[in-house]
This record gives sequence, C-alpha cells and structure tokens, in this order.
Amino acid sequence: MNWETRITKLLQIEYPIIQGGLAYLAYAELAAAVSNAGGLGQITAMSLPTDEDLRNEIRQLRSLTSKPFGVNFAIGMHGIGYESRVQVAIDEQVPVVTITGGNPTPILQMLKPTLTKTLVLVASRRQAQKAEEQGADGVIVVGQEGGGHLGRDDIGTMVLVPQVVDAVNIPVIASGGIGDGRGWMAALALGAEGIEMGTRFIATQECVHASPSYKQALIDGSETDTMVIKRLIGAPARVLRNDYAQTILDIEKKTPTYEAIKDYISGTANKQWIYEGNKQGGFAFGGQVIGMIHDIPTVSKLINSMINEAETVRHRWGTLF
Ligand SMILES: Cc1cc2nc3c(=O)[nH]c(=O)nc-3n(C[C@H](O)[C@H](O)[C@H](O)COP(=O)(O)O)c2cc1C
Repeated sequence: MNWETRITKLLQIEYPIIQGGLAYLAYAELAAAVSNAGGLGQITAMSLPTDEDLRNEIRQLRSLTSKPFGVNFAIGMHGIGYESRVQVAIDEQVPVVTITGGNPTPILQMLKPTLTKTLVLVASRRQAQKAEEQGADGVIVVGQEGGGHLGRDDIGTMVLVPQVVDAVNIPVIASGGIGDGRGWMAALALGAEGIEMGTRFIATQECVHASPSYKQALIDGSETDTMVIKRLIGAPARVLRNDYAQTILDIEKKTPTYEAIKDYISGTANKQWIYEGNKQGGFAFGGQVIGMIHDIPTVSKLINSMINEAETVRHRWGTLF
C-alpha cells in the first residue's frame, strides 16, 4: 500500500503517523522508536528544565535515530519563556517543530528563515486559517476526544477535520481519539493527510517514563473513564477519571480561578501519578481512546499492526464498492 501524502513528503517520513507532544513523557527513547518505525517521533521541549537539557535530549535522540523527528513547544502553559529554547531547536537544525497552547506567530517568525517544517495544533477552522496565514506548513486538528489540552468548543475529530480540510490549503493532520488502523483510515477518508496519536503511544514499551500504574490504567479504563478538568478556567484538558481529578472539578466549580486550582494541576501533581504511580495523589492526561487500548506493545509492533488493520479496511472498502 502506498502511504505517500503531502505530510510524508513534507516531513520525509514513511508513514503519516506523528507521536504527539506528551508533557513529561516524550523524550529521546520514545521519539526515536517512533521515527525508527517510520513515523515522526517528538521530544516535548517545555518538559525539560533548561535549554541545555533540550540540546542534550536532541543530541541523545540523534544518537538513536538517523530519521526525521520533531520538537514540540507547548507555550504559555508552563510559565517559562520559550524564545531561547526555540533558538536551541534552530541551532540544532531540528527537522520539525510543532506548536500548541498559545499564539504561534513568534515561533513561526523565528523559524521562517530556517529549513525546519512547522505544524500548529488547532481546534477550530479560524485557528487553522490563521496558522496558514502565518506560514505554518501544516496543521494538526485536535478533536474533543483527545487526551491533554483541548479546544474550548467541544468539537469532535469527526466533525472538525473535514471542516478544517475545506478551510485551508495546507495539509491537515487529524488528532484525538485515534488508536488503531481503523481510526487512521477514517482520518484519511475525512481528508486528513496524516494522524497524530498521544495516549496510544504512552501505552508502549518505549514510553519508559510512564509508571506501570499509569500504563495499567490505560489498559483497564473504558471510553467513559476520562473527564475534562480546567474547563471553567478556559483551558479544558482531558484526564483519566480518579478521585483527585474529581477534587479539582469540585474546587473549580466552587471557585473558577487558576489560583484556586493551581497547586492541584501543577507538574508536580501530574508527576505523582505518571512517574510515581501514586494514583490517589495526582492526575494523568489521557483520551477516550483508552477504551481501545488492551496491550503495551513495542512502538514498531503497534505501527505494524496499524498497517495490517488499515490494509484490512482497504480490502473491505474494495469489496464494498
Ligand atoms: C499525557 C499527555 C500529555 C500531553 N502533552 C502535550 C504537550 O505537551 N504538547 C502537545 O502539543 N500536546 C500534548 N498532548 C496532546 C497530544 O499530543 C495529542 O494531541 C493528543 O493526545 C491526541 O489525542 P489522543 O490522546 O486521543 O491520541 C498530550 C496528551 C497526553 C495524553
């Protein structure tokens, strides 16, 4: 099967599958595994404490793969400046940069004179058009099913992707709720030219930083075992359902301010579960796709099974029509 799309050509990858930025989880091992399997792996820049740590992580990744990879910038969420960190990505001639969580214009401007390809995460037609106007090479459309931070309008991937495809000329990548070859083919049918997966890649052998308790929750959870926190402070994010997340919801309902919940939603609280395995003492991001996760394969096994599933879909389409 020929997987070539504008995204595979733009990013110089074999399969149009991108591993999403994953706060505190997307480091060199996972990114290298995805890139080596023919997709695009990414490091999450703002999870690293210093610019030098990012430089070292990029170099570590380059020692593990000769394939293209990305660096993700979630700006505005971590309270630290990002300009010097983007400069590290420029100095290291990173092949791809993805941008989310704030106004992408300054980063797009910084990257304009370079060969780095840029993808902007969007959750509406307007944001996608703006990214195109600002010179982004592509957009990643994040639907409401996804894990982590979401758009404010609660629009699902199935509705949002074709609308963005119709609204822009640059290639579109679908994200949110995709976990196997069926979802991949559905995204292509909607006009997307690639997919991004977050939650599914956490449940892999090479996501070495995720605690066994977190990975087990991804396997045990059904599609109803997630919830959206921080909606009332204008930054909705999908997390795994637990008592801790319910406490956050209760507090934000009573006092819908960042100040009221900031200790509960900190990186430290996040790491309590995802690193330490303390499910009672912290929260963890995750999407509705957990309902379809039943194993912890290697990344290469996951991508191979997605290719097989996609070929089954294509065969079925062939016999249908
Ligand atoms: C644990 C976790 C952390 C995330 N952190 C980031 C991040 O730092 N930057 C980013 O662009 N997206 C982040 N996301 C969103 C993913 O990159 C991706 O868009 C999303 O997971 C897609 O939905 P899915 O989980 O259904 O695959 C995160 C998602 C999860 C589950």
